[in-house]
Amino acid sequence: MIRHDPRSRTFQLEGQGFSYLLGVSPRKDLHHLHWGVPLSPKAKRALLSDWEKRALEDEHHISREFQRREFPDFGHNDLRTPAFLLEHTDGTRVSEFLYDSFKVLPGKPDFGPGPASRSKTGDQAQTLKIVLVDQLQKLELDLYYTFYPSYGLLVRRTILRNQGRKPVDILKLASASLDLPPGPWNLVRFPGKWAGERQMKDGPLQEGTVRLESRRGISSHEMNPFAMVTRGETSEEKGEVFALAPVTSGNWLIEAELFRDRSLRMTVGLNDFGFKWRLEPGKAFVTPESLLAYSGDGFSNLSLRLHRFVKDRVLGGHWQKRPRPMLINNWEATYFKFDQEKLLKIAKAGKDAGLELFVLDDGWFGKRNDDTTSLGDWTVDRRKLPEGLGGLSERIHGMGLKFGLWIEPEMVSPKSLLYKKHPDWCLHAPGRVRRGSRSQLVLDMGRPEVRDHLFKVLTAALEEAKVDYVKWDMNRSLSEVHSAALPPDRQSEVYFRYVMGVYDLMDRLNRRFPRVLFEGCSGGGARFDLGVLNYHPQIWTSDNTDGLDRLKIQYATSFAYPPLVMGAHVSSVPNHFTHRSLPLKWRALVAMSGNFGVEADLTKWSKKDLKELAGYISLYREIRPLVQFGDFYRLESPFAGPRASWLFVSPERSQALLFIFQTEPWKRGTKVPPVRLRGLAPLRHYSIEGAGKFKGDRLMEVGFLPAPFRSPSQKFICGLYHLKG
Ligand code: GLA
Repeated sequence: MIRHDPRSRTFQLEGQGFSYLLGVSPRKDLHHLHWGVPLSPKAKRALLSDWEKRALEDEHHISREFQRREFPDFGHNDLRTPAFLLEHTDGTRVSEFLYDSFKVLPGKPDFGPGPASRSKTGDQAQTLKIVLVDQLQKLELDLYYTFYPSYGLLVRRTILRNQGRKPVDILKLASASLDLPPGPWNLVRFPGKWAGERQMKDGPLQEGTVRLESRRGISSHEMNPFAMVTRGETSEEKGEVFALAPVTSGNWLIEAELFRDRSLRMTVGLNDFGFKWRLEPGKAFVTPESLLAYSGDGFSNLSLRLHRFVKDRVLGGHWQKRPRPMLINNWEATYFKFDQEKLLKIAKAGKDAGLELFVLDDGWFGKRNDDTTSLGDWTVDRRKLPEGLGGLSERIHGMGLKFGLWIEPEMVSPKSLLYKKHPDWCLHAPGRVRRGSRSQLVLDMGRPEVRDHLFKVLTAALEEAKVDYVKWDMNRSLSEVHSAALPPDRQSEVYFRYVMGVYDLMDRLNRRFPRVLFEGCSGGGARFDLGVLNYHPQIWTSDNTDGLDRLKIQYATSFAYPPLVMGAHVSSVPNHFTHRSLPLKWRALVAMSGNFGVEADLTKWSKKDLKELAGYISLYREIRPLVQFGDFYRLESPFAGPRASWLFVSPERSQALLFIFQTEPWKRGTKVPPVRLRGLAPLRHYSIEGAGKFKGDRLMEVGFLPAPFRSPSQKFICGLYHLKG
């Protein structure tokens, strides 16, 4: 519910579990009054009267730094982190946007190209548009708040409109800024690296500014575009959590400035690093949206709401609500070394084990026998596949499997026909070395002719292959970010034009192949973000398929993203990345905790292992709806050890799946604690095969300790328990 109270000059967004309050000061500055726990009438009155007093204080005497501001400028006397920075033609960077008007719109307006969460009738979503105006420069700033009461979250974005006669340069424009009250504040972030994405780190914020960001043109391995701040003690079940996520796959920024009074200012949105956008008269600049979520009762509640929102309103298209096929991918099985015969053997072994989709990974096109050539030449290598993609696909389909193909559209190898023909189509700075990474250069996706070409050649390949699935890879960060198609004063726009160009191509291919399942990928999980998920309803989580490392990666990823979107594969041992050999059961249970697949040369597996694998595959087929569309609860963290566990609960709470992984022995003398479950119906009785019948409240309050886990000296044992109520 969005309410405007003209008497107190406030706007109130009230939903289940949180409220958000804004006020217009007597001098028409927009103030942030509250985001968090729903306020009682008494608490609201107290807050408003305190604010009225502060808002009336003389600004010439008292700095605006004493105010909590909703979309702060820089250049007057609030010198904290600004939400925006503009450079006017007279060289000044001082702006003054004052409140002008507001509108409440039903649902969510269409903001044009780029990713956007959807709204459906039944959500009771509403959008508050607040208009701020800079009279001197004739600029309008529209702040949009789309409020989803049923998900308890908020989506914000900003539009700057130039209604004057002169251009203005945008140096920074966030989607949202927040002034939170004095702490203590704690920041939770998700840093990582290739094959070690989204490791969870947290620590208290100290005075100063923390920038979480990507300057790589992709959302990055190094830091995931999602962060939380917590106030006081917080656990899965208790405490206040505020989550922020910029919805973009390009350069993003989350800033957290703890001020001298320990109040916290946060901004979220596009990265201002190296960014400048020339906004001509009559034009508008629309920022990407950002997601804001609050939980007054711990991480679990926050993740549940985010997961539901991602599944219902971020993902879209044919596959949104459909169980995802169990795939077999040939990458770890063959790398670049394969021919049709080899692929068919792997596919056949996959089919025999019960898998549903065969994915041909890198190496099928041009002359690509290693990673130094042929990106950009999307025609089949007939030396490896003499019957072409069509022939191979026909045989795979003939086996009763679906067929999928790997592509990496945004790249060009210097050793390629495409590069020979269009050497200026890649990002490059005039007169400078074009630095490869994995021997490849990045195409200038901001250019329409580059996208048109890619659309044409990829459409031809995907049509020939009659694909059911596409893995869209992106294996390097952007460098020498300069476009041969733009004038010198527009070069700081290249990063943003790049990512918008990528979205445009994704969108066109989605429309052209509406029933094809697209999976995002970027050297594993370097583009795991809410922007991509709008186009690709699942993402390859990490190139690291080791069952122990994956526990942490998948656990931490689950804070923002549901297991449905996390590609998780069983691979051979010793693991290609860690050289570790974990039991097949362990590897299978980890993969079954996400979007299950296999990535191994099954023709080399023993009969015994194949039989065991087939058992897991048939079990996953049975539990797939629950894993992919149920509610996910983290129970015990693999970062804390020595035992990790999680639970999937069906929407009507009649069934649940408990996964337990014992990663280390307990310390000598420890009394092994039971695993406490959550999310069950307290009064329902659940039967667990081989263990008995238990009441929901007992499982949640006392817990459950299956027999194999009772000995403290066990290591690398795992179990999956199906609770049926
Ligand atoms: C990336 C992907 C892998 C694989 C290779 C192919 O690293 O993450 O899964 O597709 O590229 O080159």
